[in-house]
Amino acid sequence: MRILSGIQPSGALHLGNYFGMMRPSIELQNQGDAFYFIADYHSMTSLFDAEERRRNTRDVALDFLACGLDPRRAVFFRQSDVPEVCELTWILGTLTPMGLLERCHSFKDKSAKGIPVNSGLFTYPVLMASDILIYDSNVVPVGQDQKQHVEVTRDIAIKFNEAYGQTFVVPEPRIRGEVAKVPGVDGEKMSKSYGNTIEIFGPEKALRKKIMGIKMDSRAPGDPKPDADQNLAIQLLTVVDGSIGKDYEEKLRAGGLGYGDLKKKLFEVYWDHFAAARDRRAELENNLDYVHQVLSEGAAKARAKAQEVLHRARKACGLE
Ligand code: TYM
Repeated sequence: MRILSGIQPSGALHLGNYFGMMRPSIELQNQGDAFYFIADYHSMTSLFDAEERRRNTRDVALDFLACGLDPRRAVFFRQSDVPEVCELTWILGTLTPMGLLERCHSFKDKSAKGIPVNSGLFTYPVLMASDILIYDSNVVPVGQDQKQHVEVTRDIAIKFNEAYGQTFVVPEPRIRGEVAKVPGVDGEKMSKSYGNTIEIFGPEKALRKKIMGIKMDSRAPGDPKPDADQNLAIQLLTVVDGSIGKDYEEKLRAGGLGYGDLKKKLFEVYWDHFAAARDRRAELENNLDYVHQVLSEGAAKARAKAQEVLHRARKACGLE
């Protein structure tokens, strides 16, 4: 079984990325042939600073390795080190109906907000389909917001297979219900573009401040709170640690737990959760040669597979 997923180097990685995609991917690396990559081509649709892209790409590599991606088990690489995906994107684009892309949230939401939309953002799901299909991927672990893109990928694969004969594996999204949509500090989906993130790594003081700044209602600590499961700090605590989350939910429901103490607990549990990863990240930062070597070995393995599948696709559609 081939497992594949990608993550954009478009800003500091956060708890939504970690619990929605990175942790499930790290767990799956023991269950099949895993391919994980840094989607630097995709980041070009929204980030226009070369130095920032380089820095973010390095940071995503450090973050993912520090969190437990094991390069002995998973192939870890940079998307743009396999330029074959661009050729396949073109081929797939010729079979992709405009209407399918017009319905995609990635494009629809931005254009509805009046944000100028480049054609790269419009065809972004075709590049993603190419990422997935070019490695014969079976399973794609993602958060809820990427589900539509995996469905588009399935549609495109089926269309190609119908037009030119069986060529591509039709993949399936793998979404963990309880962490499909991790909320940010404002209660909306946690997202780099909403400015509501809690980063996986960052300065302690600033992160504590973000968490202590989560808005609560004005009920007194002693009041019972029958809607405790709706409380944002409880929801985040449950994402980080299900059993502590349930325990604190009961405490809040019963009355007697103040919001300040609840947020303090959330900060501590979150901070402890990443303590070992923080240490590993600091070590890796002093060993960037190793990180570069991991990515270049990963790229070589990924590229070999991509060339094989691209060749199959070129033959199927009469380019060879
Ligand atoms: P990206 O970089 O926006 O996000 C990376 C992963 O994190 C998940 N995620 C979340 N999950 C739960 N709650 C949240 N608040 C949250 N925020 C982000 C995303 O669902 C995603 O799984 N297009 C992709 C990158 C990509 C890709 C691919 C993924 C490119 N090619 C091929 C899979 C297969 C993206 O922009 O993810």
